[in-house]
Amino acid sequence: MFPVEKIREDFPILKREVNGKPLVYFDNAATSQTPQVVIDAIVNYYTNYNANIHRGVHTLSQEATDLYEEARIKIQQHFNAKNAYEIILTSGTTDSINMVASGFEALLTSGDEIIVSALEHHSNIVPWQMLCEKTGAVLKVIPMLENGTLDMSVYNTLISEKTKLVFCNHVSNALGIINPIKEMIAKAHQVGAAVLIDGAQATPHIKPDVQELDVDFYVASAHKICGPTGVGILYGKSEWLEKLPPYQGGGEMIETVTFEKTTYAGLPHKFEAGTPNICGGIAFGVALDYMNAIGFDAIGAYEHELLIYGTEKLQEIEGLTIYGTEDKTAVISFNIEGIHPYDIGAILDKLGVAVRTGHHCAQPIMNFYNIPGTVRASFSFYNTKEEIDLLVNAVQKAKMMLS
Ligand code: ALA
Repeated sequence: MFPVEKIREDFPILKREVNGKPLVYFDNAATSQTPQVVIDAIVNYYTNYNANIHRGVHTLSQEATDLYEEARIKIQQHFNAKNAYEIILTSGTTDSINMVASGFEALLTSGDEIIVSALEHHSNIVPWQMLCEKTGAVLKVIPMLENGTLDMSVYNTLISEKTKLVFCNHVSNALGIINPIKEMIAKAHQVGAAVLIDGAQATPHIKPDVQELDVDFYVASAHKICGPTGVGILYGKSEWLEKLPPYQGGGEMIETVTFEKTTYAGLPHKFEAGTPNICGGIAFGVALDYMNAIGFDAIGAYEHELLIYGTEKLQEIEGLTIYGTEDKTAVISFNIEGIHPYDIGAILDKLGVAVRTGHHCAQPIMNFYNIPGTVRASFSFYNTKEEIDLLVNAVQKAKMMLS
C-alpha cells in the first residue's frame, strides 16, 4: 500500500488551516509543496556555505560549487541524459523555452515552418510567435479534438521538408492529457526537424528518459517536482547546444574576453551567464532524491487511483462537465453548468480547498471549448481520497450557493 500518511508527515504545510478548515491543496499543477528535506537543504545552504560558485579558491566557494555540480549530475541521471553538460540550469521552463527560441533565431530563415500543438501553455506559444515575427518562419498548429487529445492525423500532414522545429508539452497543464510525444519526435526526425518537449507538467508524475525518447530539447521546472521556484532545466542534445549561440552575455559564459573579441565557454557554461540560483539548483537535486526514493512508478500508480476516484465522485454531481477525458495525469479540469469557474474557486477557498480557476495560461484550449475557463483540481502523491471527498462536498456546497 502507498504510504501516503507517512509521506504527508514530510510536508509541514499540509498541517496548516485555511479559513479555519484543514488545507486541501489541489493546485499541484501550479506548484508542488516542499518536503522538509528540501527546506532543510535551503536553510543549510544559507546557514553554512553560501558562496558564489566556479569563482573562488576559498572553502565555501568550493563546497558550494561541488554541491551545485553534484546536483547537475543528479539531474542528468534522473532524466538519463548522456552527459552532465547537456543539462543547463535555468530559472525555469519559460526561461528554458526562451533560450531555445532565441538560439533558433540564427538558424531559421523566412518560409521555414515550426509546429506547435493546440494544447500549449502560453509559454510554449508566445516565444515561437516572437521567433516567427523575427525570422519570417511560419507557425503551424496541430489542432485538438473534443476529448482533449491532439489530432495526430493533421500532425502527419503538417510535417514536411519545410519543418524545422516541433514543440509540444509532454502533458497539458490545463487538462492533464498525456501527448504521444515519442511518435511525434520520430515523425519530426524523419524530416530532420528538432523537437522541444515541455515537461513542466509531466515531470511531477513521470520520469522521462531523454535518450529513450530521442528528444532534442526537454525543459522542466523544479518547483513542480517538490523543489524551489526560480530553477529549472534545459536538456539539449550536445550537437544542438553546440549549434545554438549563447542566450545571454556575461560572467562565467566566456573563455576569453578582449575588446576585440570574446570566445565562449564550453557547455553547459555557455548558457549560464551570471550568478545562478545556486541554492535552488542544490535543492532541486535534493527534491529529485526525495521523489526517487518514493519511486515514480509508485507515485504514478497512486495518483492514478486518486484520478479515478476523483473523476467518479465529481461525475456524480449533476451539470458537471470534465474536459480532457483520455490518458492523463491526475488533473481534473471541470465546470458546472451556468456557474463561472472563479465563483466556484472562491467558495472552495473559503472551505479550505485550493484549486486553480481560469484559463490556466492556455487560452486557445478555452476558446476551443468556448468557455471562459475551468476549475482545475490537480492531485499529487501526498493527497488522499479523504481530501477528494472534501473537494466533492465543497463543490456541491458551491453549486447550491451559486445556482
Ligand atoms: N503553469 C502553471 C499552471 O498550469 C502555473 O498552473
